[in-house]
Amino acid sequence: MTDIHIPSLRAGATMAIAAGDLDLKTRLAQESARRWQMRRLSLRSPLDPPVPDRPGRPEKPELVPPKAVEKRSVHTLPGRIAMLHALAHIELNAVDLALDIVARFATEPVPNSFFDGWMQVAFEEAKHFGMVRDRLRALGADYGDMPAHDGLWKAAHTTRNDLTARLAVVPLILEARGLDVTPSLQEKMRETGDIESADVLKVIYEDEKGHVAIGAKWFRFLCAREKRDPARTFQELVRSNFRGQLKAPFNDVARAEAGLTPSFYRSLSSISHA
Ligand SMILES: [Fe+2]
Ligand SMILES: [Fe+2]
Repeated sequence: MTDIHIPSLRAGATMAIAAGDLDLKTRLAQESARRWQMRRLSLRSPLDPPVPDRPGRPEKPELVPPKAVEKRSVHTLPGRIAMLHALAHIELNAVDLALDIVARFATEPVPNSFFDGWMQVAFEEAKHFGMVRDRLRALGADYGDMPAHDGLWKAAHTTRNDLTARLAVVPLILEARGLDVTPSLQEKMRETGDIESADVLKVIYEDEKGHVAIGAKWFRFLCAREKRDPARTFQELVRSNFRGQLKAPFNDVARAEAGLTPSFYRSLSSISHA
């Protein structure tokens, strides 16, 4: 990998998105992040390939509508495997989504530290995918063994022409959702005695707080530059770009620590809170 030619950060991110071989994808993501952080890559070069509309993926898993994915209790081994498989799929999408922010928005007038942040996210998502896949393998399964849903990429792709909307949907809706659900999942894993999986979830949870924080920081930056109110802008962008529901209960503490205060999301929730 160290001898692979990466012409620019945008090219490296694009090559990783396009890669259908998942070892290659995660290695390209992490190697591009490393070289960018060492200041060995320029942001763009004139010959960068176009950013693909869909990420490269292996033949398996089969992609199905979200409702077609079975939910099972994590108190059985098949249930735990199904949960880890769904999580691996989320992490894989997260790799592509972080890289897509970098590659697609590489011509935005933002400081280079914007790209530092998203390449850190891409690096960590690749790490998460690897950790979850290792757990699947330890349990006698692997990524690709069961169908997965295609909702995440679609949700993000709607915002391909608007960086502020992209940040509203990807880090501040989709990743923030991870903060709400991961602690109880981790608790359930610990109850079943699968300490290794619980520990993986703990690493993911801690890293994801940082991803939401990076999202909130740059979302506020873009709003300030355009003199828009961040909470109101968030609500407008979510209403016009995100079709799913925001589901309570929210992890208000972790969200607030990341800079995502209830004024952003409360009024969008389907359930009102006492
Ligand atoms: Fe992740
Ligand atoms: Fe993340």
